[in-house]
Amino acid sequence: MNKAIDTALMQAAEATGSTVPAGMAAYWMPFTANRQFKKAPRLLTRAEGMHYWDDKGRQILDGVAGLWCVNAGHARPRIVQAIQQQAAEMDFCPPFQMAHPKAFELAERVAQIAPEGMGKVFFANSGSEAVDTALKMALAYHRVRGEGTRTRLLGRERGYHGVNFGGISVGGMVGNRKTFGLAVAGVDHIRHTHDPVRNAFTVGQPEHGADIADDLERLVALHDTSNIAAVIVEPVAGSTGVLIPPQGYLQRLRDICTKHGILLIFDEVITGFGRTGQPFAAQTFGVTPDLIVCAKGLTNGCVPMGAVIAKNAIHDAFMSGPEHLIEFSHGYTYSAHPLACAAGLGTLDTYAEEGLLTRAGEMQDYFAQGVHSLKGEPNVIDVRNIGLVGGIELSPLAGEPTKRGFNVFLDCYDKGLLIRTTGDTVALSPPLIIERSHIDQIIDTLRGAIRRAA
Ligand SMILES: Cc1ncc(COP(=O)(O)O)c(C=O)c1O
Repeated sequence: MNKAIDTALMQAAEATGSTVPAGMAAYWMPFTANRQFKKAPRLLTRAEGMHYWDDKGRQILDGVAGLWCVNAGHARPRIVQAIQQQAAEMDFCPPFQMAHPKAFELAERVAQIAPEGMGKVFFANSGSEAVDTALKMALAYHRVRGEGTRTRLLGRERGYHGVNFGGISVGGMVGNRKTFGLAVAGVDHIRHTHDPVRNAFTVGQPEHGADIADDLERLVALHDTSNIAAVIVEPVAGSTGVLIPPQGYLQRLRDICTKHGILLIFDEVITGFGRTGQPFAAQTFGVTPDLIVCAKGLTNGCVPMGAVIAKNAIHDAFMSGPEHLIEFSHGYTYSAHPLACAAGLGTLDTYAEEGLLTRAGEMQDYFAQGVHSLKGEPNVIDVRNIGLVGGIELSPLAGEPTKRGFNVFLDCYDKGLLIRTTGDTVALSPPLIIERSHIDQIIDTLRGAIRRAA
């Protein structure tokens, strides 16, 4: 919007007595404080590399890869061209009983960078859809093997697995329970791993807390292993405040799952595609789950897409019975959409050409120094990091949780930096093309905003 239109809209809004600028009433924004936003809109109109530009022409450094998804940076030529070409060549291909070549190509390419033995890729259109796909896959897997009593799904407190019913059920967000009440039945949760008393200001993986994985044994003792289908966790929890897994914790979960025949699902929607220094966090932490859920960085955020990467043995268990029958009754109209597959291939090419899937490992020490230099600033009660993920936890304003975080977000935006806050924790997840000078700018801007929010 240019200034003249802007002013005209505001005048029109004032004339009608509305506090919402004209033209902004219809859009009900997701996960947004709609009234606050519409009073002072933050409109982005262009993006390139590490930056956005807003409607007033201001340059804004992207400290969060859009929303943990634009891992290769914005407007990358290979991806742009791939999408343009595909749109002209073939817009849509029915994904049921039909396919197009790029779907196979992308699945192969994803399997090549996945942990060994995880060679089967099922496409969805978002992280939330991929989560629900993985949960259904786990339930169906046990049924095809004749263990149909395994119906219970386990999640973890403070987990975030998207917004669909399966995801909010296994997720551990109190807000979802407050807003929507009950969701899918037959779900339980293991304890979260956040332990600031023992682990505050740890650089990298916390030392204490591997034993928290034993909480899974408690639920096995309660529900009996014969009833449990799967446990789903984020290797690094993002949306509930950047929680890094304690050393040894994920391996212990793996061991307990293996012992009891429970499938282990890693939700790698934010950690997939290089965020922690390897293609997947499973590789960074050296623990292989049975299913990996991914999305976001799969297409560099350019076209919506999610996927479940399955162990070969899980896929193979479905491949029995008469060959004319559908083996897994699940899929979306837009599964393996041609534009998404083209974007995915352009994205994986860009990652490979520029070594981006391991770049977070090269940058993580400098990034860690930066975020941990915020220790000692007013109200900073913890700093957490891994790869190119940073969490800076602030103490809440008395009686107004989340407000200090939101004020820091607004202040940073005003000073030309896009960050994200979850509650009172600042979450950083910059594009993997980040340079040291960008890290300096992020930390300086954030430091100023944190001081002003004191
Ligand atoms: C761990 C995790 N799982 C699932 C999702 C949901 O993804 P989407 O918003 O694409 O549905 C997110 C989104 O941030 C996420 O962080």
